Amino acid sequence: MMAGEKGRQALLSVLKGEMPWRRPVWFMRQAGRYLEEYRRVRAQAGSFLDLCYSPELAAEVTLQPLRRFDVDAAILFADILLVPQAMGVALSFQTGEGPVLEPVRDMAAVERLADASTAAAALEPVYETVRILRRELPAHATLIGFCGAPWTVATYMVEGGSSPERLRTRMAAMRGEEWLAALIEKLVEASAAYLVRQVEAGAQVVQIFDTWAGDLGDGLRERYVTGPIRSIIERMREMGADVPVIGFARGIGAAQLAFAREAGVAAVGCESSMPVDYMREVLVPKVVVQGNLDPLAVIAGGDVLEEGVQRLLSLPKERHIFNLGHGFRPETPVEHVERMMALIREEDDAGRVV
Ligand code: CP3
Repeated sequence: MMAGEKGRQALLSVLKGEMPWRRPVWFMRQAGRYLEEYRRVRAQAGSFLDLCYSPELAAEVTLQPLRRFDVDAAILFADILLVPQAMGVALSFQTGEGPVLEPVRDMAAVERLADASTAAAALEPVYETVRILRRELPAHATLIGFCGAPWTVATYMVEGGSSPERLRTRMAAMRGEEWLAALIEKLVEASAAYLVRQVEAGAQVVQIFDTWAGDLGDGLRERYVTGPIRSIIERMREMGADVPVIGFARGIGAAQLAFAREAGVAAVGCESSMPVDYMREVLVPKVVVQGNLDPLAVIAGGDVLEEGVQRLLSLPKERHIFNLGHGFRPETPVEHVERMMALIREEDDAGRVV
């Protein structure tokens, strides 16, 4: 490792409470179908899952956005649903329909799931992707590993795939079903083991994606969102992985403050509906914030994009990781991403001390 390399990693600096050399930027789903080079490699791999399990190709698509845009991080190319698959749940991705999983809806199905170390061992190709990436990444780029949060992963397992309202899972939570609690507990253990292996392979930061955290109000949020994420982080620490964790509890709004205090995260990912004033005044004094440009603003371009970027640049750069409020969509024009990057980097170019 070159001297001073870590100090040049803007994302790590902010997560450690230091002044970064520039505002750190990365984007959720920065690798994906909006890039033609991704579509080519994806076709070569055959299927999305084949791509996830082919370390050379997965590393290649992880690196693609870094060749186009001057971002500060690479996010491992994989999927949150590899964990249930590794636990023994049949998984497929149907074109245009999203994921299809064998449903888990009672205690017998939960008991059939593989234990944490078996599940983590089945994901060896992912750790190989991480090892390749650590060798190939430029020195300023931080490697982010990830997993899905227990609540979000459980919704896909219980519903058997994507579901607009996730009513079955939410009702099981409301009723305090024991099998759901047992499922969450198993996901905590498997996710912690998986993240520890990613860190051992070279991940420098991890993000926990709780896309559907906003499903639950006071009373249930602690039990199914904050508590399980805190447990994953505690288990990681016990197993010796002490990298910073970004918690993306999407859609919890004003509960982000309590989440920041209680989950043990170094940063919170904010959804697009969160006011930037609220981020600055309420969250920034307590925690590093990540987000929250609306991915649709990047599709629209023009004034809505320029204004959205400027609003976020009003956040102090030592407390903010520039990102979207949710992932890029396939119809995102690459030129609009280039424009967004230019607007963000203008700030650092203008403010640089010579
Ligand atoms: O660039 C990155 O962000 C890293 C890779 C990554 C993917 N999925 C690749 C992917 C990450 C971090 C995820 C997380 C993920 N996966 C989440 C949480 C974040 C979010 O988006 O809310 C969720 C809910 C999933 C589950 C999932 N994976 C669904 C519901 C779908 C189908 C919808 C869709 O966009 O097609 C996927 C597929 C998926 N995961 C794709 C990619 C690039 C598209 C697959 C393709 O190439 O056809």
